[in-house]
Amino acid sequence: MNYTIDLTGNKKSSDGSILGKVNDFSIEMSLHESNQLNVYRKNPLLTPCDRVVQYYDRHTRTNQNLLMFGSNSYLGATNLHNIKEAAVNACWEMGIGTGGVPLLTGTTILQEKLEKKIAEFTGFDDTILFSSGYTANLGVLTGLLRPDNLIIHDKLNHASLIDGTLLSGAKMLRYKHNDISELSKILKNNCDNFKGKILIVTDGVFSMDGDIAKIPEILDVTRKYDALLLIDDAHATGVIGNKGKGTLSHFKIEDKKNIIVSGTLSKAIGTLGGYITADQSIIDYLRIYARSNMFSTSLPPSICAAAMEVFDTISNTEIVEKLNDNSAYARNRLREEGFNILNTETAIIPLIVGNQTLLTKMTKDFIDDGILINPIFPPAVPANLVRFRISIMTSHTRSDIDCLINTIINIFNKYGLERHIS
Ligand SMILES: Cc1ncc(COP(=O)(O)O)c(C=O)c1O
Repeated sequence: MNYTIDLTGNKKSSDGSILGKVNDFSIEMSLHESNQLNVYRKNPLLTPCDRVVQYYDRHTRTNQNLLMFGSNSYLGATNLHNIKEAAVNACWEMGIGTGGVPLLTGTTILQEKLEKKIAEFTGFDDTILFSSGYTANLGVLTGLLRPDNLIIHDKLNHASLIDGTLLSGAKMLRYKHNDISELSKILKNNCDNFKGKILIVTDGVFSMDGDIAKIPEILDVTRKYDALLLIDDAHATGVIGNKGKGTLSHFKIEDKKNIIVSGTLSKAIGTLGGYITADQSIIDYLRIYARSNMFSTSLPPSICAAAMEVFDTISNTEIVEKLNDNSAYARNRLREEGFNILNTETAIIPLIVGNQTLLTKMTKDFIDDGILINPIFPPAVPANLVRFRISIMTSHTRSDIDCLINTIINIFNKYGLERHIS
């Protein structure tokens, strides 16, 4: 099966040459720019990522204030005073970088402390840090899997999990989104040939749909077939579970047997970096065999200090509870108004539009009305399910959310767009 091209969405040139596709894209890009769009190339933000941002519109050459509904910084941690202060202090004390990969001279005391803090937070033995969630997923998958292993994916898993799989060379099979009976069938059909060689992988919170993986059922079949389960908690950490402790906490699962969790510091934690948290023996192994860790410089002290302060803020304040109140309010209001927001249960709210041309036009309408939200196109989502991806933050007020919903209603009405599209 040639899944490499399909799953990475790499373009094919009309003339088959390497640069043919670059030339084809230049034509598309000039059309994009002459239509004053902001999809392929973004206008830059001039202020910190927060509830309200100012952005520079390169087409009109003006600065605009926009209500931010497109950030993964769900807790607003990117711009909290105590967190910035922790980063600045660490920068003065320890400098701006580590100057080495972790296994040479790149391990700082702050990195060690952060790894311990994440292990305590998630309830695992130990943690290994990476320079992003993306490289954490590449590291764990290439570190553990070989071509004679089988990896079974939920079809909506994040691109980094797909890329790690392709790089590992393992055989990949995929089940329909959250469809446990299909997953069980795949396991049953393959368990004899791949005894002790199967890894199941799923996002905890799905990055484009906002729904939650059925972990208790997935874990049952994982253990039944003596497989391993990797949960990507990128959008779950700091968002779901007791005090934002993620998907396992959401389902009150305490026994961590057969489970590995990956996460990122770039979403709710508000900074940069990724991690794998697991049993001691797995982490010890990955420190040597996860190449995206071993061969890549470790995180700067300021980032480690900032992330630790965020974990403390999460544990000691009501910041996660406030986020969840806001998200529930937004989801309930959108559902009451009849919009199709799929099965989201979190701060990620997909607003299905189902028409790419309209989605592009509507993105500009939202900007004109003072709202920044992300349009999501293929290959990130199927063409019939193109959408806006609304992200709720702790710092949003009820009137911000009401303003968003009134704007959505007005823009849907403007185009006579059906609210129930499935
Ligand atoms: C589910 C999921 N996993 C991993 C990542 C990668 O995280 P990072 O942005 O820290 O590289 C993302 C980011 O979009 C994600 O949505």
